[in-house]
Amino acid sequence: ISFSDPNQSDPKEIPGSCREAAVEYSKHVEKLGNILFEIFSVALGLDPGHLRNMDCSKGHRLHGHYYPACPEPELTLGIPKHRDAGFLTILLQNQSGLQIFFQNQWVDVQPIPGGLVINIGDLLQLVSNGKFRSNNHRVLADHLGPRISVACFFSGPLGMENISYGPIKELISEENPPIYKEVLFSDYVMKFLTSSLDENNLLNYFKA
Ligand code: OGA
Ligand code: NI
Repeated sequence: ISFSDPNQSDPKEIPGSCREAAVEYSKHVEKLGNILFEIFSVALGLDPGHLRNMDCSKGHRLHGHYYPACPEPELTLGIPKHRDAGFLTILLQNQSGLQIFFQNQWVDVQPIPGGLVINIGDLLQLVSNGKFRSNNHRVLADHLGPRISVACFFSGPLGMENISYGPIKELISEENPPIYKEVLFSDYVMKFLTSSLDENNLLNYFKA
């Protein structure tokens, strides 16, 4: 299942069996997203509201993923390697399979009961001028299953495509020149939608 902020869409899009839980979860995860954007702002030396005021937390979307048990896991992947394109992703997972590429190798990200995985996306890398780095990750296929995950993508204010994003001015100085260009959000989204998931160089198009 995939649905956007229940305040902006019709909850009837969500199957009845999980509608109430999904809407409730979406509200909590939105609050958490806003807290994370405050923490990230402060970590960059900015006011707590800085990233929120750039509409980074607008337009989150929940995706429920169902990975069936796979009879021949060595022949395929659950999701090929990619970086998330938006600002950040909050992920809930019920069993192993997720891996991140860290120090030149794939590392398992084991689920911790009640724990969430936070992935930094390419847009946060762009606006932080490379201070935060998006990570490569993938999901392996498994004999055991189903694996279920719920990803909440903070992809930016879809529907407000006239907005543009570039490295935050306060982070730019003579020693820290901009690495990326200012980009119209609609152009960014279009580039993402017309690239393949594992092409993996979305930010290369927006280098200064
Ligand atoms: C994604 C993703 C991981 C998972 O949807 O971008 O990385 O565990 N999902 O489903
Ligand atoms: Ni991802």
